[in-house]
Amino acid sequence: QEDIFKKLVAHCKEYGFVFQSSEIYDGLGAVYDYGQMGVELKNNIKKYWWDSMVLLHENVVGLDSAIFMHPTIWKASGHVDAFNDPLIDNKDSKKRYRADVLIEDQLGKFEEKMNKEVAKAKKRFGDAFDEQQFRETNPRVLANKQKYDELHARFAKALNDSNLEELKQIIIDQEIVCPISGSRNWTDVRQFNLMFSTEMGSTADGASKIFLRPETAQGIFVNYLNVQKTGRMKIPFGIAQIGKAFRNEIVARQFIFRMREFEQMEMQFFVRPGTELDWFNKWKDTRIAWHRALGFGDENYRFHEHEKLAHYANAAVDVEYKFPFGFKEVEGIHSRTDFDLSQHEEYSGKKIRYFDPELNESYVPYVVETSIGVDRMFLQVVAASYCEEQLEKDSRVVLKLPAPLAPIKLAVLPLVKKDGLPEKAREIIDSLKFDFNCQYDEKDSIGKRYRRQDAIGTPFCVTVDHQSAEDNTVTIRYRDTMKQERVAISDLGNIIGGQVNF
Ligand code: GAP
Repeated sequence: QEDIFKKLVAHCKEYGFVFQSSEIYDGLGAVYDYGQMGVELKNNIKKYWWDSMVLLHENVVGLDSAIFMHPTIWKASGHVDAFNDPLIDNKDSKKRYRADVLIEDQLGKFEEKMNKEVAKAKKRFGDAFDEQQFRETNPRVLANKQKYDELHARFAKALNDSNLEELKQIIIDQEIVCPISGSRNWTDVRQFNLMFSTEMGSTADGASKIFLRPETAQGIFVNYLNVQKTGRMKIPFGIAQIGKAFRNEIVARQFIFRMREFEQMEMQFFVRPGTELDWFNKWKDTRIAWHRALGFGDENYRFHEHEKLAHYANAAVDVEYKFPFGFKEVEGIHSRTDFDLSQHEEYSGKKIRYFDPELNESYVPYVVETSIGVDRMFLQVVAASYCEEQLEKDSRVVLKLPAPLAPIKLAVLPLVKKDGLPEKAREIIDSLKFDFNCQYDEKDSIGKRYRRQDAIGTPFCVTVDHQSAEDNTVTIRYRDTMKQERVAISDLGNIIGGQVNF
């Protein structure tokens, strides 16, 4: 599985999806650029989200707030004081870790070790094997399970109590049962604030320290009154936004999974106090349905209840996807209470209230948030789509992207570079290019051209041959089945249009 992940990263580079930032200067850690294919896929993901949130919900509207905001906003939101990660260094390897992520990884490896033990027994006993009985009676499995549960419970409590000493102790204890670094020589755990700061204005005028936003959500909160009043919005209603966010992640790894500059798609849904948990459940259902509608297999998604609630939440759940490196968070859904709006009332000195005509009273609305990383979703989509297929004579790598997300919808390929076939191919592109992203390719054999399109996930290839010039038909080849059909050029728009829109 780790192997697949390495191939996936290489594939993203080779086909122009994702490049390391500043590569010719040896790169910048955890910052990435999207290439010619990547930008198209990313835009399609954003459109899929935006359309389903804003177009399909009458009571959700959009916003595009600035990255720079008044510095007091981050005091009010709690980020200056509490947006920290626990950091620990290994003195032998000189490696730096995020303590909570390290423990999660160790627990994951421990679980894997236990599952391997069970799988081994299954192989040994064949059909007669009763897995449940084995798990409940085998002394080694039972002892490990007990250790695992104990560590898990200690971890949850340490997080909840922000007990940094206990986090360090868990790492040391886990090193005995399931080593990751192979060393017990650790520094103390200390808190590290994740916000980047810079200065606004020249120092001569007294520059002020400002932050690059670590989430887009605060831009929505501080515009709540503007949007509610000018849009005459009635509760319940939502504000959706897509934009960049920045976090000085301690350990940035796993490619675009955890970046220092990334993009978020967030929606804050403002509700009457007391109804927030109903809305939380409703958005949970809506969001997992959105993920599953892509067709990557329902079993690859699950909810994960948080071990520790963030300082602003009274309920929180993650949507997790089964990445090649295990189930990991793609999206967070949080019931944020009236925490943010109340804090902004207090710090700004302005009333942020809603007059509810049905109740005939004013209140600070409660908020349910859905928050998903564009880049993480991108990685999820690519991981889910990446296939290596053995064919009769050779093999191919194909990105089985849902057609609406594919960067190129249609490749038009003249069979030869003469006899008017290139001109005919260009004519087809000219008639379709306003509706679909098309690509023209005349280089190399037709087989090689199909492989290149498979590798970038193009759902349709159209080949123009000598018969096309005579009867205005072409062959259309479908990416996943590799089946080919002869169709009229005039039907192409309908065939493709029927597949590439959600
Ligand atoms: N406003 C709530 C919030 O920001 P979060 O759980 O910290 O919540 C939400 O982030 C989502 O943003 C995550 O589920 C993930 O998809 C994405 N995300 C967070 N940090 C990220 C990072 N360093 N790199 C890439 N994506 C990230």
